[in-house]
Amino acid sequence: MSQPTFKDSFTRKYRKGPYSRISPTQPTLSASGKTVLITAGHTGIGFAIASNFAVAGVAHLIIVGRRQNMLKKASEDLSRAHPATKLHIFAASIVDEAALSAVFHKIRQGIAEPDVLVTSAAYFPSSTNVLETPMQQMWASFETNVKGNMHLVQEFLNVTRPSSVSPTNQTPKRDKIILDVSSAATHVFVRKTGIYSASKLAFTRILATAQDEASFLSQYFNLRIHSFHPGIVLTQIGRNNGHNVDTMPWDDVQLPGQFAVWLASPEAEFLKGRFVWANWDVDELLDGKERILKENLLKIGLVGKADWAIALKRNTSKL
Ligand SMILES: NC(=O)c1ccc[n+]([C@@H]2O[C@H](COP(=O)([O-])OP(=O)(O)OC[C@H]3O[C@@H](n4cnc5c(N)ncnc54)[C@H](OP(=O)(O)O)[C@@H]3O)[C@@H](O)[C@H]2O)c1
Repeated sequence: MSQPTFKDSFTRKYRKGPYSRISPTQPTLSASGKTVLITAGHTGIGFAIASNFAVAGVAHLIIVGRRQNMLKKASEDLSRAHPATKLHIFAASIVDEAALSAVFHKIRQGIAEPDVLVTSAAYFPSSTNVLETPMQQMWASFETNVKGNMHLVQEFLNVTRPSSVSPTNQTPKRDKIILDVSSAATHVFVRKTGIYSASKLAFTRILATAQDEASFLSQYFNLRIHSFHPGIVLTQIGRNNGHNVDTMPWDDVQLPGQFAVWLASPEAEFLKGRFVWANWDVDELLDGKERILKENLLKIGLVGKADWAIALKRNTSKL
């Protein structure tokens, strides 16, 4: 199976593991006092993200997943390692709208207003050609990776009553941050992942539009949406599909764990509405800030420009 590699890198340095610049112990990356909700924060990449936000000093970590025993184990492990962070677990499926609404009600009543939402839960159909993928798996991919995630986003932003999220007189306005754990498969061709790729792309594309349209919420809070590829990490999903430590040049799970904390920090604000990879060096990204903004880079789009369009741009720039 082909996989994204260094040749797809936007930065010269291609990171495979954590590095000091994105360590959550850096004071600039402090998330002290924040409330972070992570779906699938009990397993794989989500668990690493949860651990690193705890190191960054969050007040509350909320984990949503379906398997109660796994949630309990993760919560115990995180509480033991990070006693200053309060752990909260909710056994619910993100495709169950009523259950998810009830979870958010309990969070707002009994815990705190969430500052950061990390969408790590995902459905992975079996690795097959698009045309051979069973219809049930096709639909489950879109139901979890698009519909379930969109419901989460709407609950997190409380879009029907945004004023209850943040009183209008609060200054400075609070940040509401969404970290979309997306995939390079949204824009790099990876064989036998067509349905998964399309469902991940659909959600990421919807979020990019949501960021563009966010001005109607700006009187209540600052919305920042970041989509990122977490790297290629050996998790249970890979193991279920026959992978082991030797089958791929795997990235260290702490790389996306730490990168997520950096992405939620004020330094990464300029990357909102854009797509980045955890493998990309953050200092090089910061060095490229002016170019990224000026040339509108790191957005999902179509590669290629017709000659007439280039000529038109050249001529109109002379007017
Ligand atoms: N691993 C990689 O190399 C890689 C590469 C690119 C992108 N990603 C992305 O990274 C994220 C995490 O992947 P991972 O490999 O670390 O997987 P993982 O967390 O090991 O597995 C996915 C988790 O999602 C939860 N989940 C699935 N459906 C759910 C639902 N309806 N409601 C609530 N929770 C649900 C499952 O927990 P329960 O069964 O307990 O609900 C499961 O533990 C995913 O979004 C994936 O697309 C991973």
